[in-house]
Amino acid sequence: MNSNIQVMKGVKSIRDIDITGKRVLIRVDFNVPMDSHQTITDDRRIRSALQTINYCIDQNACSITLVSHLGRPKGEYEERFSLRHIQKRLERLLQKRIEFVEDFEASQDEISTCSLERVFLLENIRFQPGEKKNDPELSKKLASICDVFVNDAFGTSHRKHASTYGITEFVDVKVAGFLMMKEIEAFSKALETPVRPITLVVGGAKISSKITLLESVMQKVDKLIIGGAMSNTFLEALGYDMQASFYEKEYIETAKNVLAEARKNKVKIYLPVDLVITDSVDHPIDVKVVPSQDVLEGFSAVDIGPASVKLFQEVVELSNTIIWNGPMGIYEVDRFSKGTYKLAGAIADSYAYTIVGGGDTADAVDKTGEAENFSFISTGGGASLELLEGKVLPGFENLDRVKSEA
Ligand code: 3PG
Repeated sequence: MNSNIQVMKGVKSIRDIDITGKRVLIRVDFNVPMDSHQTITDDRRIRSALQTINYCIDQNACSITLVSHLGRPKGEYEERFSLRHIQKRLERLLQKRIEFVEDFEASQDEISTCSLERVFLLENIRFQPGEKKNDPELSKKLASICDVFVNDAFGTSHRKHASTYGITEFVDVKVAGFLMMKEIEAFSKALETPVRPITLVVGGAKISSKITLLESVMQKVDKLIIGGAMSNTFLEALGYDMQASFYEKEYIETAKNVLAEARKNKVKIYLPVDLVITDSVDHPIDVKVVPSQDVLEGFSAVDIGPASVKLFQEVVELSNTIIWNGPMGIYEVDRFSKGTYKLAGAIADSYAYTIVGGGDTADAVDKTGEAENFSFISTGGGASLELLEGKVLPGFENLDRVKSEA
């Protein structure tokens, strides 16, 4: 049986078709983090879309329309989520004028007319109430302004929305962009033809958001490093009192099952052996390092400690493939960032094939200045998790296939 990755690898890419003289609609994921002044703080997702856009320009597509969402508006206009905040950065990166289309329906005629080399950027598609509902009417309208649909929004490919999924029903030619193909190649290398041992490093706050991942990787990985607040739930499951630390009481049984499954599958699990704890997460006065079983009354764990860093570093050094999703602590706060940054350094220094997924983890890697030393940084958070869980992502599902299976 074909794996989910094989199924996704079998889609046609933009390189497999002729787009010269065609009206091309590219679904991109420009959902980038911004500060309170609406300044983009990480433009990786925009930079990652440039190859496909430039290719369409070079191939003389007659018009190029970019569609994206930004944030989670409730189906209506909200200034802070306007794609106008993206326009300038895109123009600078592309070195080309971008025509902003505020009202997609009113401008339908203009953007569907062949106009060599014009690049249009539609206003946030989630301002349309039909987008998240995968409304066929919206899908049809989007389809009517193009001859070719290119999905290059890997970060949103786990969503069944009008512009990522529904549109494929109404366009004859639908293919993946370069980014989608690159992402699949990278995960294929790590999961389908890996050099063992494979280590999965998971962090972040909640087991609940990664439980399907933890359950589904038992047959695939050799070692599992668990850090971040989610390791607190595992430590509670081992009988340690995590005191005021964040943990998910209702997932203690789940954590026990994960530990049992790991034993059954001979997957080695590594949990923090020491922790950085504080009397207050928001206004820390007292910060200490303690063994994981000795968290002080009223204190919360906020990072892994130096002995855990050493242990995890050793595991990483002995791995040949490493997939990392989720920070080891509250890395946004300087005092609690050491564990995440040191682990980032260790993974970067390893000789393994290394993949990073998830916005926070990619951000942490960027902050250490080590991004160049990773084999691949995925633009997908939820999408990369679902891919690791073994799912076929909806954004790939209905694209044309290289050859039809018997
Ligand atoms: C993401 O940031 O994970 C993607 O852009 C999808 O966004 P969403 O979780 O709001 O659908």
